[in-house]
Amino acid sequence: MSDIRELLSAIGKPSGGVYAPSDDTFLMIDVLSTMALRGKDVLDLGTGSGMLGLFCAKMGARVTVADIEDSALEKVRAAARRLNLMIEAVRSDIFSSVPGRFDVVIFNPPYLPSDEIKDPTVDGGNYGRHLVDRFLEDLAPHLKEDGFALLLLSSLNDPAAIIDSHRELSFSVVGSRSLFFEELQVLLCKLRNLAS
Ligand SMILES: C[S@@+](CC[C@H](N)C(=O)[O-])C[C@H]1O[C@@H](n2cnc3c(N)ncnc32)[C@H](O)[C@@H]1O
Repeated sequence: MSDIRELLSAIGKPSGGVYAPSDDTFLMIDVLSTMALRGKDVLDLGTGSGMLGLFCAKMGARVTVADIEDSALEKVRAAARRLNLMIEAVRSDIFSSVPGRFDVVIFNPPYLPSDEIKDPTVDGGNYGRHLVDRFLEDLAPHLKEDGFALLLLSSLNDPAAIIDSHRELSFSVVGSRSLFFEELQVLLCKLRNLAS
């Protein structure tokens, strides 16, 4: 708890189109806090305020954060300096400029269903799936052997339909939280061993 307060204080009040830590962020933190992250290579994709990546760095992981918004990356770099944490921050459209493979890839996507993408921090297009599908399609080459992704979804996204259209991956629910108009879930996604 004191770690979370310290991180929030270092991040400050996000502004200028940077997503502020919210229920979805904190559900992901609950899941991450059950995992042994020390020494792991972690990618926090769509890092926003950097809360998730900074939390993993605090837990001893080697962290890369990525976002399409330069303003977010600048703020995460500044927060990391305040916390004396080492992170690599890269501007990237999903995985396009992300180097290497990771033990854990975290993605809390813009997932709200929308007719168009007006606010890239929250708008997720049709069923909120626009970036979710791109993420799942491009995930495989960025995972180490035994690596996995943690993906946040909402009941608004119809998770069963998403799972059904990505048969190359296996999914399990590792965290959930009911809010008044949606249920949030964290899915653990792994590559299926198609040889077996
Ligand atoms: C819902 S916010 C999550 C922020 C943070 N990870 C958290 O959990 O609080 C989604 C983030 O994805 C970023 N994003 C949107 N489109 C992206 C893209 N094409 N590639 C990478 N990041 C993107 C947004 O800028 C935003 O920071």
